[in-house]
Parts: sequence; C-alpha cells; structure tokens
Amino acid sequence: MLDIKLTRTTAPKAKPEDETKLGFGKKFTDHMFLMNYTAGQGWHDPRIVPYAPFELDPATVVFHYAQEIFEGMKAYRTADDTIQLFRPECNARRMQDSADRLCIPQIPVDDYIQAVKALVDVDRDWVPHTDGASLYIRPFVFAADVGLGVHASKEYLFCIICSPSGAYYAEGIDPVRIYVEDEYIRAAPGLTGFTKCGGNYAASIKAGELAEEQGYAQVLWLDGVEKKYVEEVGSMNIMFKIDGKVYTAATVGTVLPGVTRRSCIELLKDWGYEVIEGKLAIADIMNAAREGKLEEVFGTGTAAVVSPVKELVWKGEHAFIGDGKIGPVTQKLYDTMTGMQWGRLPDTKGWIVPVEKVY
Ligand code: COI
Repeated sequence: MLDIKLTRTTAPKAKPEDETKLGFGKKFTDHMFLMNYTAGQGWHDPRIVPYAPFELDPATVVFHYAQEIFEGMKAYRTADDTIQLFRPECNARRMQDSADRLCIPQIPVDDYIQAVKALVDVDRDWVPHTDGASLYIRPFVFAADVGLGVHASKEYLFCIICSPSGAYYAEGIDPVRIYVEDEYIRAAPGLTGFTKCGGNYAASIKAGELAEEQGYAQVLWLDGVEKKYVEEVGSMNIMFKIDGKVYTAATVGTVLPGVTRRSCIELLKDWGYEVIEGKLAIADIMNAAREGKLEEVFGTGTAAVVSPVKELVWKGEHAFIGDGKIGPVTQKLYDTMTGMQWGRLPDTKGWIVPVEKVY
C-alpha cells in the first residue's frame, strides 16, 4: 500500500464550460500523480501535486532514446454520481508487460490501481457529467537518467495525468474511413508492437499524416514481414465480421493486447458469435467485400471505444462496408460497453471498479 502525500492546488483551473466540445486530450485537471524510481531504492515518494510542467535536463535519457511506456484508461460518472473505472487491473498488468520489454522497473498492480484511484478521487469534480464524455487517464513512465550512453536508466518517473475528453475521432460514433498501409510498417516479430511505448506511435505518424491528407481517419497496419495480414490500427484494434463470423488479429507479439478488444471478444462469444483470433489476409477481406460478405468492420480501444469503419482502401481498391452506417453487432457492442461503463447497464462481468471517496 502506497503512502501517497497530497498537496492540493491553491489555484484551481476553470472547468470546461461546454462538455460537448471537449475533444480528446486537450485540457488537463488540477493535479497529477508522481512517483520516482531509483536503482537500489525502488519506487519511492508517491505523491499527488498540482498539475505543472516538468523541469528536465536536456540530456535526460527519454529525449534521446525513447525509453518510455504509457497506458490509457477512463473514469466514468454514472447517473447517481458514482465515479468508476473499467478493468483497471488489465491496464496495470499490460503496463508491467510493456515495462519488462522496455527494461523499465515494473510497478506493482495494486500500487498502480491505488495511484489511479487516488488521483481520480482528488480530481473527481473533473469527471464529465455529459453523456459520451469521460475522464481520460494517461499513466506513463519514462527514463530520467541524465547522460547520452545507451543503457537502461537508473532513475525513472511514473506520472499520471487526466484529461476530461469526448470522442477520439472527430466523426464520434459515425463510421470512419481507413487507409490500409502497404509501404510503412508498425511492428515486426521481436520488436515492441505488443507494448504501449511511445516509439510505436512515433513510427506510425508519417503514414498517419499521409493517410489523413487523403481524407482517411487512420491507417490499418499489415504485418511487418509479408505485408499480407491485418494487424491493428494503432489507436485501436480492429475486427471484421465476415459471413457471420468475427475475425481479429491474434495478439502474438506485434499487436497491442487491447482491454476493449478482449472485452468485446468476451461479449461476442457470450452472444454466440464465433470469434477467430489469427491471421487474416487483407486480400481475403477485399475478396469478401467484393462478394458482399464483409458485413461489419469496427475498431476497439479505450479512447476509440467501439468505432465503426465504413471504407477501407488498399492499393487503390476501395471496400465499402455495409450501407456506410454502423452495423448491428458494432452498435450492440458499443451500447453494451458504454452501458456498463456509464452504469446504465448492470455490470454482469465484474469489470467495473468504483472509485471510493477518500480524499
Ligand atoms: C487509448 O486508447 O487509450 C490509447 O492509448 C490510444 C491512443 C493513441 C489515443
């Protein structure tokens, strides 16, 4: 159990006036959580302090060698003003897996959850009241040694910040267009694709910008070896409903094991759908579209929730999905996930964790 020291802000910021126009990750709450790691001492000095910029030496390791990992979570306000989290232990465990790959000391699961809960509790007034808006939580850890040698740092900082946010995509729940990237890759076996490290996202930006210039919301990444099999979208995992069955890439090292992904798979199986986690060739998806069997495509992610896709383009060929509107399975998943998260539906899966008022 962490002994978290709290220093409250003396200058609270104005809360957003219009919660329907929050955007994603633009405004930040009054406080942040910090905890240091020093080799030989372990994690120490857990504290909640006023949100403020860091002062860091220009030679701090993270600026040069990107030894950094992060997570994404949300806190939701229910109609009776309970504040709740969704499967926080999944994020805590995934951060441990990311830490292991990036040679960063792991944070115990209980400490991670305690830290998230404490910060959300202190900033609970910042959890939006508006339907569809939530408090996005961004925990991250970075190498804080000063020096230019390439080796594992001996000092780290664990920080959590929170941002009242709306939908990730400007389209909201409206279906998005996706560009299937056939030149650049995001991950390859043995690399860091399964982790949430900043480097994965840095490597994805160029393709994302090129796709955006052509009017596509995101890039769909193919496997890094043959550029043949679909993997993920970067900001979300992706699923394809073809001829009644749901297909998604297996999380075997190059794909992020999404918390929303695994939750949707569980729900789909509960509802009797066959879900196939494995290799799915983009050529087969385009064929299915030509034969009228590509029934639904949707992304899953903490930020993206469940996001319908209406169009894929691969090597100049366009696949249009359904009638361009959200499909029934996508809609049911969206309604069920958001229903549980915002407390409109009972938590039949034991996924919801309330944030008790302590501070
Ligand atoms: C999340 O869904 O929480 C993420 O971290 C994706 C991010 C690119 C917004």
